[in-house]
Amino acid sequence: MKKTLRSWILKPHGLAMERCLELGLCRTIGVSNFSSKKIQRLLDFASVPPAVNQVEMHPMWRQSKLREVCGEHKIHVSAYSPLGGPGNSWGSTAVVEHPIIQAIALKHKATPAQVALKWGLSKGASVIVKSFNQERIRENMASFNLKLDDEDLIQIDNLEEWKIMRGDFLINQTTSPYRTLEDLWDYEI
Ligand SMILES: NC(=O)c1ccc[n+]([C@@H]2O[C@H](COP(=O)([O-])OP(=O)(O)OC[C@H]3O[C@@H](n4cnc5c(N)ncnc54)[C@H](OP(=O)(O)O)[C@@H]3O)[C@@H](O)[C@H]2O)c1
Repeated sequence: MKKTLRSWILKPHGLAMERCLELGLCRTIGVSNFSSKKIQRLLDFASVPPAVNQVEMHPMWRQSKLREVCGEHKIHVSAYSPLGGPGNSWGSTAVVEHPIIQAIALKHKATPAQVALKWGLSKGASVIVKSFNQERIRENMASFNLKLDDEDLIQIDNLEEWKIMRGDFLINQTTSPYRTLEDLWDYEI
């Protein structure tokens, strides 16, 4: 029953997006917040695979498994909340305040935000950082010039992980096909 309901949600939307492509209303199809399992389920029926999957990704939510699966299917991963969303009313994780990130920044005479962004870029992701501040926008752009070494990458790979966008509002015992957070994220949380 659960599986039928989920296919019922995914399939018509996927087919409608393919129709938009046929009609020339868009150039490619993108998805967001898809787990590896949801990507697989989509690929089971899609005639056009998605070009991109936009997901939460930063040094403290690294998405290793998902990046691998998307890579195998040539689906680009785009990282939202690449700084861990400092100051977000709906939740954040202190990536830019993490002592390891700060130490790496100090070592390279860079800023913690630049370290976080360059880490995402070094994994082949695009990083969609948001700032309303001109100075910080410049600072963020300069992350392209930073070079992280292997030791930095290993240290980041060992940081504790915490997902910010958990989606509790999508869980309920009656109208939602998802009963638990694990269920919603296909045990990739
Ligand atoms: N697809 C989805 O489900 C989804 C979910 C969440 C977010 N998103 C998108 O992802 C984008 C970014 O996500 P986000 O805003 O959650 O997270 P984020 O880019 O990690 O964090 C944005 C916050 O970081 C601050 N900031 C920016 N540059 C900084 C720097 N150099 N040093 C210190 N703080 C800095 C910003 O403040 P200032 O403005 O004051 O600089 C802002 O408060 C948005 O466009 C959003 O729409 C998509």
